[in-house]
Amino acid sequence: MFNIGSYDERIKDFNWSISEQELGYKPGSVINIGWYCSDRLCEMGGADKPALIWEGFGGKEKQYTFNDVRLASNTIGTFLRELGIRDEDRVCIFLDRNPELYLSFVGILKIGAIAQPLFSAFGDESLHVRLENAETKAIITQKKHVSKVRKIRDSLPHLEHIIVVDYDGKRPLQEREVAFSLETATPVESLEIFPTHAESPSVLHYTSGTTGQPKGVKHVHYSLISQYLTAKWVLDLKEDDIYWCTADPGWVTGTSYGIIGPWSMGITQCVLDSGFSAEAWYRFIEKNRVTVWYSAPTAIRSLMKAGDEVVAQFDLSSLRHLASVGEPLNSEAVIWSEKVFGKAFLDTYWQTETGSMMISNYPGMRIKPGSMGKPFPGITAAVLDPNTHEPITETGRIGLIAFKPGWPAMMRTYWNNEATYQSKFVNDWYLSGDRASIDPEGYFWFTGRDDDVINTGGHLVSPFEVESALLEHEAVAESAVVAKPDEVNMEVVKAFVVINPEFEAGGDLELKIMNFIRKRLSPLAMPQEIEYVDSLPKTRSGKIMRRLLHAQEWGEEIGDISTLEDDDA
Ligand code: PRX
Repeated sequence: MFNIGSYDERIKDFNWSISEQELGYKPGSVINIGWYCSDRLCEMGGADKPALIWEGFGGKEKQYTFNDVRLASNTIGTFLRELGIRDEDRVCIFLDRNPELYLSFVGILKIGAIAQPLFSAFGDESLHVRLENAETKAIITQKKHVSKVRKIRDSLPHLEHIIVVDYDGKRPLQEREVAFSLETATPVESLEIFPTHAESPSVLHYTSGTTGQPKGVKHVHYSLISQYLTAKWVLDLKEDDIYWCTADPGWVTGTSYGIIGPWSMGITQCVLDSGFSAEAWYRFIEKNRVTVWYSAPTAIRSLMKAGDEVVAQFDLSSLRHLASVGEPLNSEAVIWSEKVFGKAFLDTYWQTETGSMMISNYPGMRIKPGSMGKPFPGITAAVLDPNTHEPITETGRIGLIAFKPGWPAMMRTYWNNEATYQSKFVNDWYLSGDRASIDPEGYFWFTGRDDDVINTGGHLVSPFEVESALLEHEAVAESAVVAKPDEVNMEVVKAFVVINPEFEAGGDLELKIMNFIRKRLSPLAMPQEIEYVDSLPKTRSGKIMRRLLHAQEWGEEIGDISTLEDDDA
């Protein structure tokens, strides 16, 4: 029997109080995600149950019970408090997928501070804009990444503490740096949990938008109510499951469903912090007897590419439920997974902004490969006419995916950017920025984004952020960045570049520019291709016609160029 029972029954008279009651939360009282992910489970008798099974490079392993999580998060929380971190202070977690990442996240929330996880492969520029925007007070990092922080700290006056979790004493620490090691710190048995309430801020995730400035999505402790129930009903997590979420907590999937959802349910989860290979992933599943697996289309397509023979070398019979998020899950991938794993990956759709799953395929519900499924119970979803912003009633017509606000995990604002947050609402609908159609049976079919943002392997990249970084390279006079089709990642970043006359195309210039972006922004934002052009297509007032270049890349009709020009008005 699936946790959700019957989807059709669940959508009748749905109320989020189901989740509140299961979590023992009474509206108006204290709700602290950190406590829910550690202390509560121990109080309920789960202290000795494994919470985290971690494997790093070279097969290094560590295991933590829920009591270990409780103690470690107490210890980190206490350390932060002693440094002077108070409620609502932003604490960035800039770590590889080490156990410290997961344990710090819980510790930060317990003291009422705001966790700001950032992808550890971010370069100094990507890191800088996000720390500056959040006025982050402390950053938890590791030796390997300290040099990036050192590069930018002088222009970050709010950044008071740089905490290094694996300091080995070999080189002196510099200003504002302090060492902290869970291995040597005395475990703190009891910590006074900060009495956060439903609307107290919890997590700040940065996402890329249509400007060069990433947006800090502010979530609150009440988000737990959505994250718990969606994890239970969509991921179908049960007491004896061994769950693997492949996402990095630098992104929302890695926190909502890589920490909060499963741990609030007391589920054992495993984490693999090593590079991708089909063999390594299958071996990890086999070794840990993974039962529920939440991954992403790019990973699934890469597994497909590795071939069916590799699958056959492993015993993957433990798998009982698979789900996917982040980009369109093509029907081939759904069908393939059913063939080789005996289970289809179920697509789920949501965003950093929504904080929890919005449209999904549910265990037990008929799957239509290629469709994102149906709205989660309690979620009012529609596709709106792009002009009138009224729901489209005829089936099959493409419109803008929109939701009626009111579910617990919805973002509360963009940090320091209320105007952009407000601009996301029209006629009481939250506009997701994506397009879809709905079929006669109420299934949603994703058709694309409604903006220029590039979704490469499930990660959103702002073309504007890449363009501004490109302009900082001495050889680049002008640039336009668009998505280019890719078999595995669906989209990759491509840059059209006009170079300064004193530079010459060819040689290793292309590699140099690519590397420049990789270091400043991240490997994800790095253009996979650079095409040199003499000039860029522009509107009358000089705006780059990115859509024209996009259409060229995708072999689409370029359409009426005069309309593109009018766009600029
Ligand atoms: O364009 C949609 C795409 O990813 C965007 C959200 O990205 P992010 O905020 O980074 O969060 C990703 C993980 C929750 C969406 O606006 N997207 C996400 N899931 C799907 C998807 N596109 C198609 N199908 C999906 N299942």
